[in-house]
Amino acid sequence: MIKVAFYDAKEYDRTSFERYSGSEEMTFKFFDTKLNEDTVELAKESDAVCVFVNDTVNAAVIDKLYEYGVKIIALRSAGYNNVDVQAAFGKVHVVHVPAYSPYAVAEHAMALLLTSIRRIHKAYNRTREFNFSLNGLTGFDLHSKTVGVIGTGKIGRIFIDICHGFGMKVIAYDAYPAKDSGIDYVSLEELFKESDIISLHCPLTPETNHMIDESAIDKMKKGVVIVNTSRGALIDTEALLKGIKARKVGAACLDVYEEEADIFFEDRSGHILNDDLLSRLISMPNVIVTSHQAFLTQEALYNIAETTVKNIKSYFTNDGICDNELCYRCGSIDKCKKDRKERCF
Ligand code: NAI
Repeated sequence: MIKVAFYDAKEYDRTSFERYSGSEEMTFKFFDTKLNEDTVELAKESDAVCVFVNDTVNAAVIDKLYEYGVKIIALRSAGYNNVDVQAAFGKVHVVHVPAYSPYAVAEHAMALLLTSIRRIHKAYNRTREFNFSLNGLTGFDLHSKTVGVIGTGKIGRIFIDICHGFGMKVIAYDAYPAKDSGIDYVSLEELFKESDIISLHCPLTPETNHMIDESAIDKMKKGVVIVNTSRGALIDTEALLKGIKARKVGAACLDVYEEEADIFFEDRSGHILNDDLLSRLISMPNVIVTSHQAFLTQEALYNIAETTVKNIKSYFTNDGICDNELCYRCGSIDKCKKDRKERCF
């Protein structure tokens, strides 16, 4: 029986994972708390831990997991910037869910964009109060506008297809452009200069951290709409706020926020928010914030649970080889063992 300590468990996680729990093969122990140095002890006697985007999986936590004999860290997310994969190497294997529904995220990005530029959020509140005035609700057509897509992986490409459906001109930047994709790649500078809308779909890495900073915003068109459904720290939030206050940034649609870890995913409605930057952003009429919900569709939850369970099982069977294992050498042509169908270590 494989014992899995399941951190940061929400009601929707329990619903999608419970069908696999208690079987002869695997059992889950659900914890509401996030994984960090104070809570790692809960993983004692577990074979695996299952974590999400705001769990802290740093070197200290990894060392403890290793000491407790935990064999595998199973992320139920695609992004893994919260895991110190270098520290885990040689100690605890790391697996993730590379794709569960790229449609969910790409569609949410478009939903945010349309809500923002057609003022749906305002109209919704107004009509509930029987206020049928149209003043202040003027939007703009997406048709013929230029959208700049940063990151043309699974989600970015679906977003591009959606944008084409709206008759938009699409330009894109990717550090590793896809060959023969028909995508109109430009430099980052050009993308900033030409785009009416910029949507972020690249991972958070040391290179992409704060890629949207003051100097990037300076290069953008006046009135640019910035959509971020990727990771909060791609944007320097202070610079964004400055750009909004200066009327340079026309609107921001944010599903992620760089300091979201202690705020998002919880009901804080009865509390005073101690994050002035987020409070200020939320108070802006042209900012829409959703709390990292882009992934949250029935299809995605089903696929996340199915792949996570498969990932964990494959460690304990199948010679431990798992297509979804990752390590700090991923992508390195000479060192990556995955292409050779071997374990990372
Ligand atoms: P992917 O791995 O298929 O695509 C990422 C793309 O970014 C690749 O084409 C890669 O070449 C590119 N890239 C890497 N470094 C770059 C750089 N320095 N500059 C520009 N492009 C770069 O990943 P996928 O599935 O499309 O997901 C993208 C991101 O979306 C994830 O990294 C994750 O952070 C975020 N995400 C957010 C969710 C949410 O609920 N808000 C849910 C799932 C993913």
